[in-house]
Amino acid sequence: MSVTELFETSGVADDADLQFSADGHLRHLLTLRGLNRRQITDLLDRAETFLSRPGQAAVRSQALKGVTVGNLFFEPSTRTRASFELAATRLGADLLNLDVNTSARKKGESILDTIYTLQAMQIDVFVIRDASAGVPAYIARNVNDYVMILNAGEASVSHPTQGLLDLMTIRQHKGNFEDLTVAIVGDIAHSRVARSASEGLMIMGVGELRLISPEALAPDPDDFPGASILHRLKEGIRGADVVMALRIQRERIGSLDGIPGIDEYFANFGISHERMKLAAADAIVMHPGPMNRGIEIESSLADSQCSVITDQVTNGVAIRMAVLSTVVETMERQ
Ligand code: CP
Repeated sequence: MSVTELFETSGVADDADLQFSADGHLRHLLTLRGLNRRQITDLLDRAETFLSRPGQAAVRSQALKGVTVGNLFFEPSTRTRASFELAATRLGADLLNLDVNTSARKKGESILDTIYTLQAMQIDVFVIRDASAGVPAYIARNVNDYVMILNAGEASVSHPTQGLLDLMTIRQHKGNFEDLTVAIVGDIAHSRVARSASEGLMIMGVGELRLISPEALAPDPDDFPGASILHRLKEGIRGADVVMALRIQRERIGSLDGIPGIDEYFANFGISHERMKLAAADAIVMHPGPMNRGIEIESSLADSQCSVITDQVTNGVAIRMAVLSTVVETMERQ
């Protein structure tokens, strides 16, 4: 049985249930599926308490004193890895950043043996990014019952803390979700960001969700219940309150046949000042990063007044502090 088949048969479908303790508290964060509006609101409210005014010292606490957090990133990352690191240290945790490129995984050690090894060194919370679907849940099923798993990006399936920071940013700028039209533009098919953002927006009761992509990068509609799938940018962003641009996930695309080249892509799907005239007058522009300026987003638009991209980054640390402190509280209740 291949590793992928092993993960597939490990029960990915009920990851949503796996993440809660017996009394219903969040113990792992694997997906936003299965969370309710109250639980997400509590995480967003908690994250707000970890923000400080620009120029003021970062908020710190000792909520994770005595806890050890292990960052295991088997795919590249800047924002997610750095923000989990800052979140853990600002909460007083000990932190291990495993350098995967010089780890024993390069000598053939399985991911589970790596986890068991670090678990024996008393890592309490594993933060995991991996290119294979099912890895966070597979690990969650196999760790000791006092260990917590946080999904920091799983193939094209899920990126729950990104989804939460996107919700937090939208709520800060728009106040609610019910009255909003949100347009997500780009490589929806391969985007874990789009999946988690859509799951979160649906749970929070978003007014309308539009997913706009070239035909070759369109998702399976079953993955996005309740969303409209469109292929014309003008139609998609007309009247939108929130426009989120996504990069093409070339690392997940086997053949680029049918995928527009850079100039064609920008001409048809790039978010620009001109195109934003179709959106609501006070629309905000988002991007999860990393950005490819001049491809999915006009460079000057990314730095303009309507861009909330740096707010997303700031909120990323606060959301990870909220998630870490929430799961550790769950374990302390056990
Ligand atoms: N948005 C996001 O996940 O960025 P990184 O790949 O830099 O972590």
